[in-house]
Amino acid sequence: MAYNLLKGKNGIIFGALDEKSIAWRTALKCHEEGARLVLTNAPVALRMGEINKLAEITNAPVIPADVTNMDDLKKLFEEALNHFNGKIDFILHSIGMSLNVRKGKSYTELDYGFNQKTLDISAMSLHRVLRTAWDLDAMNDWGSVVALTYIAAQRVFPHYSEMADAKALLESVARSFGYHYAVKKKVRINTISQSPTRTTAGSGVKGFDGFISYAEKMSPLGNATGDDCASYCVSLFSDLTKMVTMQNLYHDGGFSSMGVTQEVLDGMEDE
Ligand SMILES: NC(=O)c1ccc[n+]([C@@H]2O[C@H](COP(=O)([O-])OP(=O)(O)OC[C@H]3O[C@@H](n4cnc5c(N)ncnc54)[C@H](O)[C@@H]3O)[C@@H](O)[C@H]2O)c1
Repeated sequence: MAYNLLKGKNGIIFGALDEKSIAWRTALKCHEEGARLVLTNAPVALRMGEINKLAEITNAPVIPADVTNMDDLKKLFEEALNHFNGKIDFILHSIGMSLNVRKGKSYTELDYGFNQKTLDISAMSLHRVLRTAWDLDAMNDWGSVVALTYIAAQRVFPHYSEMADAKALLESVARSFGYHYAVKKKVRINTISQSPTRTTAGSGVKGFDGFISYAEKMSPLGNATGDDCASYCVSLFSDLTKMVTMQNLYHDGGFSSMGVTQEVLDGMEDE
């Protein structure tokens, strides 16, 4: 059911790779709620061509941008401002990539060159996006920015590796920039800490199947799906959450508050 929560709002969605992507699910929901959208992803991801399907459904242009490239970001924002013929009300940062995980290097044997790139793509990119919007004065007052994160920023999950550090940095950038943007333009910036979700990035984590079923058993409501996450993003982009900023918001069916569940204990007793 749609509520027209984003009627008249303009948004940029980063990171829709395929139908499973959280950004894809969110773009669909924002469209249903009446938003006008611009979609963007890295040029190499756009070559897959999948995003054109989403562009058609949501009636949105696709503008390529490598999020580590300031010229790409400037061009993206300038074209988006032109397309909307107005400023931007919301941004979804749904980007993550670990070069060390991809190259099979464990946390104790990180390649620091890859590590720099991981931190840039997965965390400092939020700063780059915000800085570009700031410099171009591209956001409307009371705009809303959401970036996606994971609880490995607070607790250890062995195979999440350097992405845990990247997410800790991402959450910190959201708080720090959140202060400055709130004072300057009442723009709010939050991170959503999402349950494990079956997507391309998610499945890159070693032992993902065990990981996702453990989280399911440890969450009183079960794991939050990509569509659930999309709905939460919509609520944060809407005017109903105007005073929420600089927060890391758990969206995980209760996982983050649990010590252990009966279901997990029962499994232990079977052993
Ligand atoms: N899937 C999960 O279990 C899970 C859980 C919590 C948080 N998250 C976070 O959600 C976000 C979205 O991931 P997803 O699970 O939908 O996977 P996904 O693979 O569908 O999305 C990741 C996106 O990042 C984009 N990207 C990578 N490098 C880029 C670059 N240089 N420039 C621009 N874009 C680039 C990819 O093209 C892709 O679209 C990520 O931040 C991820 O860490 C995912």
